[in-house]
Amino acid sequence: MHAPENIVYSVQPGGRLRGELRPPGDKSISHRSIMLGALAEGMTRVSGFLEGEDSLATLKAFQAMGVEIARPGAGQVTIAGVGMHGLRAPPAPLYLGNSGTSMRLLCGLLSGQGFEVTLTGDASLSSRPMRRVTDPLASMGATIEATEKGTAPLRILPPKSLKGIAYAMPMASAQVKSSLLLAGLYAAGETSVTEPAPTRDHTERMLRGLGYEVETQGNRISLRGGGRLTARDLDVPADISSAAFFLVGASIAADSELTLRHVGINPTRIGIINILRRMGADIEILDERDVGGEPVADLRVRSAPLRGIRIPEDQVPLAIDEFPALFIAAACAEGETLLTGAEELRVKESDRIQVMADGLLALGVDAEARADGIRIRGGKMGGGRVDSRGDHRIAMSFAMAAVRAEGEITIDDCANVNTSFPGFVELARGVGLDIAQAVGS
Ligand code: S3P
Repeated sequence: MHAPENIVYSVQPGGRLRGELRPPGDKSISHRSIMLGALAEGMTRVSGFLEGEDSLATLKAFQAMGVEIARPGAGQVTIAGVGMHGLRAPPAPLYLGNSGTSMRLLCGLLSGQGFEVTLTGDASLSSRPMRRVTDPLASMGATIEATEKGTAPLRILPPKSLKGIAYAMPMASAQVKSSLLLAGLYAAGETSVTEPAPTRDHTERMLRGLGYEVETQGNRISLRGGGRLTARDLDVPADISSAAFFLVGASIAADSELTLRHVGINPTRIGIINILRRMGADIEILDERDVGGEPVADLRVRSAPLRGIRIPEDQVPLAIDEFPALFIAAACAEGETLLTGAEELRVKESDRIQVMADGLLALGVDAEARADGIRIRGGKMGGGRVDSRGDHRIAMSFAMAAVRAEGEITIDDCANVNTSFPGFVELARGVGLDIAQAVGS
């Protein structure tokens, strides 16, 4: 696959953010809607689906395995479920682009099939650690070949049989948990995962919604193999991880007020709200409701003076994708913010501790990368040029930083914003961010 173009953002300093918008569909839930809809019996109609490159990679992977999936309109997907044993061997390796969720969850799900399949990805995905799933899956009986470093391409061979295991997860990872639970659907007996801290529970919620029994006792989640899934229509809420850029932007910009509609506020995802509120942000949760087993609300955010804090470690897994945006908030806060216990940030789409520290330093912010976190002293932010290193969330975070910068911010390597937030530039312009994009050299 060819390298993406160098999409460059140029964002003018200052301005205010006002109005309302609905961020795109939740990425985690969109992936799972395709995976579980494909394995269900009957027709699943999904609305609010994220039409970003990551979730489309999952969609295309299931089409390649013989599942009929139609896209009748914007955000709509119809999946003709093939049942637990109806997937077919794809004609070629499954290319999953930048998407760690596709690769790790599929690794578990495909460990239980009767065919061989190879999973590949782009340069970033091919450097991310996969042993965290391939090791426990191997102890369930799966045969998965990886590179010597434990990275993709991953070749998954049909297993003789899978058996359930009781796995104490060494890191708080929803991808690892979900991968094992999906393999557990095909395993003899019980599969259980014990997590060191709560992580997003969309897999468990959706399995239950489709009629599969999943037990949660404290931090232990378990299911028994051999069951079935029954199709049901799914409404995907807007992604709080995409809302995060606007929560930070409207908090730090002058004279701003934004309403973000239909945002998922699952308790395992609201670290961004908890942390920003602790820093002094003015965020209201309005019209809380339940949508197909997931809590949803409108979020109203207004400008507020922020102060630096020590981020509580128990919030880290609940805000794991939002730290690039939170670091921008910290750079605009009064005093020092300290993050610890977040070494997982080093193995995301980029090394988010180092790449964010480099970008903040380029803008004149006092930031110090540490092994498991960062220290940021809020203050003046200049303009300048930063490199997102192909990381979608870093690109969007620095775009929002411009509302408080003293000069233009130019951001390189932004094409991957399309993995999670197609239409970001237009939506952000619509509420007042002075952002333009061009193809750079
Ligand atoms: C995800 C889980 C998180 C998150 C990722 C999506 C998921 O990864 O960072 O963007 O959909 O399960 P980890 O579980 O590896 O922390």
